[in-house]
Amino acid sequence: MTRAIGIDIGGTGIKGAVVDTENGQLLTERIKLDTPRGGKPDDVASVVSEIYQQLNETAPTGVCVPSVVKNGVTKSAANISHEWIDYQAKERFQSDLGQKVTIINDADAAGLAEMRFGSGKQRDGLVIMTTLGTGIGSAMFINGQLVPNSELGHIEIGGKDYEKVASYRAKERYQLSFDRWAKRLQRYYQQLEMLFSPDLFIVGGGISKSHELFLPNINIQTEIIPAEFRNNAGIIGAAEQAFEKQ
Ligand code: BGC
Repeated sequence: MTRAIGIDIGGTGIKGAVVDTENGQLLTERIKLDTPRGGKPDDVASVVSEIYQQLNETAPTGVCVPSVVKNGVTKSAANISHEWIDYQAKERFQSDLGQKVTIINDADAAGLAEMRFGSGKQRDGLVIMTTLGTGIGSAMFINGQLVPNSELGHIEIGGKDYEKVASYRAKERYQLSFDRWAKRLQRYYQQLEMLFSPDLFIVGGGISKSHELFLPNINIQTEIIPAEFRNNAGIIGAAEQAFEKQ
């Protein structure tokens, strides 16, 4: 069976769909419900259950979260409720859904979607995917193999946690034009290039649909391209992970 369920827990919405893991296509309508106020794990878990019920499908299920994930336990909470730190997410979702569940970091999921079906397809070497949103998420791949939980959005440059300087939220908060934002991104990608010498950068997050407004102004030696999947990348990657791990 090549069907799996992907559920993406975000700061404002929780989205889910059934995915064809052979080609990354959504096989159902995407269901999107609001993230409960405060984003506490117990409240989020009820919404995840509701989406699962509505999908009305029995299939391996992947859930992605904006947190470091180790063995099904969420370990960090940069932009979400602190109750997610050391939360037994896998155990909780499995008992709620009565179904095998895989938990993965949201950027790792988005990266997996790109590597299997999008801009990173058949790309070898070191590929770094970054997602520009509320925070900066990252996913690293060596020859297509994910090295999970890289958290490169928190690299410090000039003594600052750089997602606070260069995420899409920072662009909005400081009302930066695309040109000014690109200057900050330039510094960021230059730093990553210096540290990792990757073969490819993929830039995702909702704003990557406007890539022509900022990517051409990032001048580095490494190839840097937009992601193909935008808002569905997390769903597709989470489903893919569930399928591969079943
Ligand atoms: C978190 C990451 C997450 C990223 C994107 C960061 O603040 O630390 O785990 O992937 O935001 O949501």
